Formats: sequence, structure tokens, C-alpha cells
Amino acid sequence: MIPEILPTYNRTPLAFASGQGAWLTTTQGERYLDFGAGIAVNALGHANPDLVATLAEQAGRLWHVSNLYQIPEQERAASLLVAHTFADTCFFTNSGTEALELAVKMARRHWHAAGRPERSTIITFEGAFHGRSSAAIAAVGTPKMTEGFAPLLPGFLQLPWDDMAALDEAIHRPDVGAVILEPVQGEGGIRPLPDHDLRRIRSLCDETGALLILDEVQCGMGRTGKLFAHEWAGITPDIMMVAKGIGGGFPVGAVLATEHAAAAMTAGSHGSTYGGNPLACAVAARVVEMMTDPDFLPEVRRKAGLLRQGLEGLVATHPQVFAGVRGSGLMLGLECRMPVADVVAAGHAEHILTVPAADGVIRILPPLTIPDEDITEGLARLDSAATALGR
Ligand SMILES: Cc1ncc(COP(=O)(O)O)c(C=O)c1O
Repeated sequence: MIPEILPTYNRTPLAFASGQGAWLTTTQGERYLDFGAGIAVNALGHANPDLVATLAEQAGRLWHVSNLYQIPEQERAASLLVAHTFADTCFFTNSGTEALELAVKMARRHWHAAGRPERSTIITFEGAFHGRSSAAIAAVGTPKMTEGFAPLLPGFLQLPWDDMAALDEAIHRPDVGAVILEPVQGEGGIRPLPDHDLRRIRSLCDETGALLILDEVQCGMGRTGKLFAHEWAGITPDIMMVAKGIGGGFPVGAVLATEHAAAAMTAGSHGSTYGGNPLACAVAARVVEMMTDPDFLPEVRRKAGLLRQGLEGLVATHPQVFAGVRGSGLMLGLECRMPVADVVAAGHAEHILTVPAADGVIRILPPLTIPDEDITEGLARLDSAATALGR
């Protein structure tokens, strides 16, 4: 008999009742250290008092009005994002997947308005993850995600990850209008694109007019130690997808864009009932305010150094379990010499949560506000897990 919840997830038998900072407590009262942060979502920790107060204040005042009306909280979140990024405009969604949907529509509409509708093909990369909607699975095209869901949305061209020669050739095709990539692949196994390659992709896009769409759903919002990962390379995209950390756990996403990329998205061309609602935007605005406090990101970078050093130590101590560390900021991956499911499960036995990824990597994605002593505690727990695995 089919379960009451559609069985599309392989769930670990753990249920949490509450959270505080980097800690979660199960329904049985057991505490777990959270080095996964809900897959890079709880960027400011669980039950962050500031966000709880913001949400409660907004919840007591106004939840929803629809985009038929002006929404001051949405305007505030938008002006903060515009002030702190390359973007001239933004659209709020409820998720990263919806951000992908709009990014694809925006790119195609851009070329339609430019009188070049044939430039509808969008280049994507192997190992990418952009969500599970029909457009998002077509964009990535792996059999694991697309099997049984044909016909797929046409107009995506998948290239090998970080193969600049292949990109150089493909981007000059007359039907190509945009490139979508994650500056640091998340689900793909914490694979950062070297800064020089991101700069090269930017200049190829400038040369051909193709729009550069960055998916910063996982690597954005302070995760790499900059507000957005592309800042490390000193470039800006034309369109950017944001979600996860921007709500700190409240469902919200956004598409940020330059005027050039977005100008064709006129009234009636896109919409969402819930996207940009007062609750989500009150929280998002507060998250952006907190992350753009001048002390916030330097502190993320300091903690990232501490964590990375500790993880390198674990690799040195347990070479039979771990092969290396990769990633950027607090978006780190431990390369495993054994099945990642076994390593994650060994962590569970030590009451620490990590997140499996592709490419033999477990993801280490703690809240960006994790205290130093919890980093030390987490490293000790991972050390115990690796000792158990190495036996
Ligand atoms: C890089 C990236 N893009 C898009 C998505 C889809 O976001 P959501 O699950 O919020 O729809 C994810 C989710 O993991 C992601 O990591």
C-alpha cells in the first residue's frame, strides 16, 4: 500500500522537535549537532531570536494580500538586494526551482524581444542541480532525474563540467542565448568552478551576448564567505537565482537581474500567488540586513578557516576514510573513500548531521553563525565517526 506521504524521499529515521543555533533535538529528546543546516538553509541557525521576532511581528500583523497590491515588505527586501548586488530588479519566488523557471523564461523572453527568438538554447553543465520541475530536470537532463518524465522541455545543451574548450565551441552556436551554472556545485559534490574559468565564461558571454545566469541557490547568501559566490571572481551575472539561505528556513527565493536582462518581463509575463508575500519578505529583508552587517561575512570567513583546518586534520588522521577537503567558506565537502551513505550514517551514530552529495562527497554546511566551540565539537564527532568507520 502506498504510504500516506508520497514515497519520493529516502528518509533517515530521525524526527526533530526543536532547534537552537547549530543544535537540533529529536522527538525523543536526543541532541544532534547540525552540520547540514537543512541543506544550506538555516544560515542564521535554528530559532534565531532576531528572525523569530521578525516573523512573529509580521505574523501578528499581515500574512498575505497577493501581488494585486503593493507589498511594502517586498519593496524593502528588493531594495536591500538591489543595494547590495549587481541587480537592478528582483522577483520573489517560494523556492529555488521557481527561481530557475523564471530565469529560463527571462532569458528566452530577452531574445524574443530582441528579435532573435532562435537564441532559445541554454547551456547547462554536468553535475548541476537546479530543482525538480519540468524545466529544471530538462536543464540538467540526467537519466536519474528525467526517466519516465518525457517529453522534456527542449532547448538545453548539457556540457561537461569545467570543460572550457567545449564551452568555447558551444557558446558560439547561433541558437545559444544563455548559460546557467552554479559557481560552486552543491548536489554535484561541492565542486567550485575556478575563478579564472568563471571570468572566462563571463567574457565569452560578453562576446556573444549570451546571458550569464548564476544559480546561487545553495552557494549564495554568505555561504562561501561573500554575500554571493561570484564576488570571489570579481564578475557579475546578468541573472541570478537565490533561495535557501535568504529565508533562513522560511520558504523564499528570488531572481535578481540587470535591467538589460529583465526588460522584456513586462506586466502579465510572470506571476505567483505566494511569491513575495509579506511574511517571506519580512524575513528575507531581515536576513539580508543581518548578513550585510559589516562584521558578518568576515566572521563567516574566520569560522570557515577554523573548520577547514580541522577537516584537513581529519583527512590526515583518517586517510582510509577521507581523501580530501574541497569547497569554499562554510560550503565544504569531505571526499570519502567509502560510500557516502556509510559516512553520513556513522555521523548519525555520533549525533552529528552532514549531507550526502554526488562524487563521493559529504557536505559540511553548518549555520553561518555556528559558535567556535560547536565547530570544535563537530570535528570531534566526525573524528569519532571516522575512527568507527576505520576499524
Ligand atoms: C543549486 C540549486 N539550485 C536549485 C535548487 C532547487 O531549490 P528548491 O529545492 O528550493 O526548489 C537547489 C536545491 O537544492 C540547489 O541546490
